[in-house]
Amino acid sequence: MEKKIVFSGIQPTGEIHLGNYFGSLKQWLDLQDKYFCFFSIVNLHALTEPISPSSLEENTLKTTSYLLSLGLNPKKVVLFVQSDIPYHTELTWLLSVVTPVGDLLRMTQFKDKAKQFKETVNAGLLNYPILMASDILLYKAEYIPVGKDQLQHLELTREIARRFNRRFGQTFPLPKAVLEERGAKIMSLAEPKKKMSKSLGEEHYLGIFEEPEKIREKIAKAVTDSGKEIKYDQEKKPGIANLLRIYSLVEGKEIKEIEKEFQGKGYAEFKKILAEKIIDYFSQSREKFLAMKDKKEEIREILKEGRRKAEEIAQKNIEEIRQKVGLKY
Ligand code: AMP
Ligand code: TRP
Repeated sequence: MEKKIVFSGIQPTGEIHLGNYFGSLKQWLDLQDKYFCFFSIVNLHALTEPISPSSLEENTLKTTSYLLSLGLNPKKVVLFVQSDIPYHTELTWLLSVVTPVGDLLRMTQFKDKAKQFKETVNAGLLNYPILMASDILLYKAEYIPVGKDQLQHLELTREIARRFNRRFGQTFPLPKAVLEERGAKIMSLAEPKKKMSKSLGEEHYLGIFEEPEKIREKIAKAVTDSGKEIKYDQEKKPGIANLLRIYSLVEGKEIKEIEKEFQGKGYAEFKKILAEKIIDYFSQSREKFLAMKDKKEEIREILKEGRRKAEEIAQKNIEEIRQKVGLKY
């Protein structure tokens, strides 16, 4: 039987934080042995926010080294840069003609970004989900590992695929999310009611490749709640609840067990131990990253090979799509 196809993407916007890792990347690593995986550094998506050409270039290579350091194996998966396959943008156009503007306007991410960038809400922010749908559908992917924040975009992708299939004939399978419950939404360290995100600012996220000293400092400063018990209570203690979920992810233990271990102990001690667990959990990857980060030519070679493999499938599929739509005369 043919292996099912997996697709996911990450924007090259700098650091990789705990939310990216536990929400999505950890699933990438788990899926790479079982499925036919396409993983993409989505640099065209990153352009929807202000980013300089030089940092986009630099972050594309850096994000690739992060992924390799975490254990993604380019011999098993197709690891490539989105803009290397121009069919993504061609398909974005073709899908845009079956996407109602109203659907795009009600996307939560768009509404949030529109507020954030009041003066210049570029059309790219609105069309972002169509580009994401084209990433997925170009490879006819069926399983999509993402964090909870991307579920709405994935639901829209299914709707776009349905509409395309209805108008032009059965072409795309309907993709499903692969979610890891506990990690699907890691919250900000400074405002635990918001999701962890780089765009909120330094104190909100924890970069998994940050210096150990920085990790200790950020966890020590993480907002906790009044009271002093280490107890999971999402409503009354969202800060501690978030840290307990993180603890349980890096330690592979149930939250109940962790609560028991910390009975009678205070926040400071809990945070100190948590910081060390996080540092340990990522220490091997961190070492690999430090050894790899200046080997730009090797990284470019890996991406070139990824491009070759992605192109093979993408080209075959775009030919079929062009024909269905009536572009072949
Ligand atoms: P991005 O950096 O926006 O390209 O996100 C890469 C992946 O990380 C996507 O699958 C997101 O859904 C996931 N992600 C981003 N932030 C979080 C978060 N706070 N918790 C869980 N997953 C997240
Ligand atoms: N929009 C996703 C994010 O910001 C990244 C992304 C782009 C993606 N294309 C994708 C994720 C395709 C899954 C599948 O998190």
